[in-house]
Amino acid sequence: MRWTTASIVAASVAATLSGCSDQPTEPRQSVPLALARTSPASAALVRQLAAARDIGPLPRHAPVRPELVRLGQLLAFDPILSGNRDIACTSCHLPAFATGDAKSLSVGQGGLGAGPGRRHPAGVFIPRNAPPLFNLGAMRRLFWDGRVEVDDAGTLHTPAGSQITPEMRRVFEFGAISALAMFPVTNRAEMRADAGNELALVADGDLTGIWAALMRRLGAVPEYRALFEAAYPGTRFEQMTFAHASNAVAGFLVDRLSFADTPWDRFLAGRDDALSVRQLEGARTFLTLKCSICHSGPTLSDQEFHNVAVAQLGPGQGNGASLRDDFGRMNVTGNPDDRYRFRTTPLRNVQLTAPYGHDGAITTLRGFVEHYSESDLKLLAFDPAPLERTLRGTVLPNAADIVAQRDTLLAGVVLSDELVSALMDYMQALTDNAARDVSRIVPARVPSGLRVAAGVQ
Ligand code: HEC
Ligand code: HEC
Repeated sequence: MRWTTASIVAASVAATLSGCSDQPTEPRQSVPLALARTSPASAALVRQLAAARDIGPLPRHAPVRPELVRLGQLLAFDPILSGNRDIACTSCHLPAFATGDAKSLSVGQGGLGAGPGRRHPAGVFIPRNAPPLFNLGAMRRLFWDGRVEVDDAGTLHTPAGSQITPEMRRVFEFGAISALAMFPVTNRAEMRADAGNELALVADGDLTGIWAALMRRLGAVPEYRALFEAAYPGTRFEQMTFAHASNAVAGFLVDRLSFADTPWDRFLAGRDDALSVRQLEGARTFLTLKCSICHSGPTLSDQEFHNVAVAQLGPGQGNGASLRDDFGRMNVTGNPDDRYRFRTTPLRNVQLTAPYGHDGAITTLRGFVEHYSESDLKLLAFDPAPLERTLRGTVLPNAADIVAQRDTLLAGVVLSDELVSALMDYMQALTDNAARDVSRIVPARVPSGLRVAAGVQ
């Protein structure tokens, strides 16, 4: 069957009306060439399709107190938050690499070097890819498996359970992101380390104890006491908990790393010339294929969990017989249907944030878009050659299990090179120029006097 522009649009509108579509919206043959030759996509149509998927501008965040931003910035760059005072948040979320580390999987405690060249002498990796820190005020589910999340009723859920007390919740001003920094600091592989410091001595389940030890550390630095008290007027440092630190990091991220001025945003705001003809065609392609069923809403993520057949590699999350598997969302819900499901990745600035997927299994953006074409066959034939050498041998032979639970939306999806190129043109329209270089967020110094963790050493 030949698909014309009109029939693709009709199918998409029908899919929108029914909320979902089980009929294939892509042709098996490379018919979409016709897309480029028929009438150019009209701006009005693309805006209408976007609105149907709730793909609008990012909500603007309320102004954040400058003193809170300042405190959060210094904490994010200060290795004082790691057990052995050698790793800061920004050791894995580097300004020089779009707030990721340009590695498939991060290297934490015991690693040497920074950025893509960072290595662990024993080849140890963190199980997942370090995502960028952009626009997180708009996300209510954080981490690849959404284990830090705010539910529809506005209640925060985290792995810490009741150790995040009602008093702490009251400190959180920015939703889920306010709680995020509570966790990397407790993780031995990421920041706390196995030995050599007072944080490492605290029992693993005693998060309260770890947070208290961190506050004792910070309280020993007079400059931090002053910064905390300036950020929270009327509260003495002794009354504060690590929730105050975590909320400050969130304030910093929301204030300094929200980037919503993309060509796509200018187009949505009414400027027809903000997109090139190719980008407009790309937008229509994205909105008429199944992509936008999952990549919907202002962040281009439905904030739900799906299995899109990404290969599993690295140490994993201790799942399965090998203990090297990563069951994704199932680790949060316990529901076997959630096995291998991960949060739909938001796509703003995606061009800047390689490698891709929860474990960085796909190293290029074009590679990830191409992956959607017969993704089951792509996974079964996964080629580890583009991965860094130490990871190549770690691909888990569980492709058949992942394919068996692949999201049904991906069945029958075949993309021609032309469609892939159109989608790439659209991805490029999602980049805010201000996100290309965020070196301006690096502080000159941090209160601990330790070396600012900011880039390639
Ligand atoms: C050793 C590397 C490393 C360090 C250090 C680190 N992170 Fe991360 N970060 C990661 C990885 C890997 C993930 C993904 C983990 C997952 O989803 O299970 C992540 C996830 C996140 C996310 C979730 C983003 C999203 O889209 O859901 C945020 C926010 C974040 N980190 C902030 C921080 C902050 C703040 C600190 C310091 C307190 C920090 N990170 C320290 C590697 C690191
Ligand atoms: C069934 C829901 C679904 C559909 C349909 C879908 N995606 Fe995704 N997308 C996801 C999920 C889930 C992930 C993360 C998967 C993982 O890490 O294991 C993802 C990841 C991505 C990434 C990687 C982003 C990153 O930073 O790691 C890109 C790019 C992407 N999708 C683009 C597309 C395009 C283009 C289409 C249409 C051809 C599409 N997606 C269709 C759910 C979907």
